[in-house]
Amino acid sequence: MHRVHIRTYGCQMNERDSEGVAALLRAKGYQVQAEEAGADIVLINTCSIRGLAEEKAIGKADHLLRDRRAGKGPRLVGILGCMAQNRGADLLERLPDLDLVVGTQRLRHIPDHLGRLLGEPAPAARVDVAEEAGFEDALPGRDEARQVAAFVSIQQGCDMRCAYCVVPRTRGRERSRSPESILAEVRALAAAGTREVTLLGQIVNQYGRGSQRAEGGVSPFVALLRRVAEVPGIARIRYTACHPIGYRPDLVAAHAELPQLCGHVHLPFQSGSDRILRAMNRPYLAERIRRLATALREARPGMTLSTDVIVGFPGETEEDFARTEALFRELGFEHGFLFKYSPRPGTPGFALGDNVPAAEKEARLARLQEILALRSSTENLRQVGTTQRVLVEGPDRRGGRLMGRTENERRVVLDGPASLIGELVDVRITGAGQTYLDGARA
Ligand code: 5AD
Ligand code: SF4
Repeated sequence: MHRVHIRTYGCQMNERDSEGVAALLRAKGYQVQAEEAGADIVLINTCSIRGLAEEKAIGKADHLLRDRRAGKGPRLVGILGCMAQNRGADLLERLPDLDLVVGTQRLRHIPDHLGRLLGEPAPAARVDVAEEAGFEDALPGRDEARQVAAFVSIQQGCDMRCAYCVVPRTRGRERSRSPESILAEVRALAAAGTREVTLLGQIVNQYGRGSQRAEGGVSPFVALLRRVAEVPGIARIRYTACHPIGYRPDLVAAHAELPQLCGHVHLPFQSGSDRILRAMNRPYLAERIRRLATALREARPGMTLSTDVIVGFPGETEEDFARTEALFRELGFEHGFLFKYSPRPGTPGFALGDNVPAAEKEARLARLQEILALRSSTENLRQVGTTQRVLVEGPDRRGGRLMGRTENERRVVLDGPASLIGELVDVRITGAGQTYLDGARA
């Protein structure tokens, strides 16, 4: 039996895809293992979002292929996902003895490709990065094992044209899965014991745009949320990734109306300078972000917000950045993903160059990181002594204890029997670490 190891870089969408590929391969008799050591096939599911993400995956593949040349590596090495889709056969220039390149929309064909490669004595590399318009067929399956918290892919691709973003190249045109197919998956998950679903899409809060009509003034995404909330057993619903323009009034109101919708959302604002937002082709003003943050927190008291910010976009002056910094501080985001601009070939903004010096980008990033560090340490400390409802997801990585999350997406580690897995339990917070809280059953 062939042993396969899948290494995943990138976002939740990629994690979900890797899970699907693993299920497909198991169904074909492969043994999928968590460790790289001893695997005879290594598949690297890649991300293209920033240059660094690509370099990491290329470095990893290079290392494995070198080992193989030295006679100790895996028998087959493949690159899957976003970078495969984005760079296709060009990857073979960097990695000439790579065996397999499979794009985001062709993942379900991996078992066929592996079968052929394994059957041939000296096979040529296979590159499969065709674009497929459909959705359902492209979706790999899932293992039977119960997942307390599961990802459900509901939308793929993106038709926005943010100047910096490679996603339209890696994930193709925006397309939504049918509500019936999504609900069937959610019901099956719930029947197997899933309590929380995270609905995934590149621009998930625009779900249904262009293919489904708003009915009675309710947007397709909100209509879907209402139906998912009716599925018995589903206690929590999350969704990611979002665009600010997708937070229409009915979605904001849904956070007041649906108790299953978690009190944590992502509001990526990218820049606090209207001038830079325009250059980024982001169709909103900073003021809109201010109003949305307030409206979301009013809709659901205790709501926490995370955001994405890019520093050093071409042409960003100190004054532009000062607006970003001020907005970031003012809105008190509980979490932030902070990035230095990375020019991506093939994006609409690539022609603008990369004219903010590296040291300046670094300094701006550090200013935001400082605000965030202060904010998260005080926030974590403020939780100590409170009682929070935690969905227990499974054993903690360090062993012996259990791990769960609050609805605000704070990780909590607690002691208790395995029978608590899948339960919502009230937990008294007894201590705060950097990235998690310590708790005990209340
Ligand atoms: N450079 C830096 N950050 C980027 N992001 C997307 N593209 C780039 C890029 N070229 C960030 C954005 C986005 C998040 C997923 O990654 O902030 O919201
Ligand atoms: Fe990276 Fe975007 Fe692909 Fe996710 S969808 S893995 S963020 S390039």
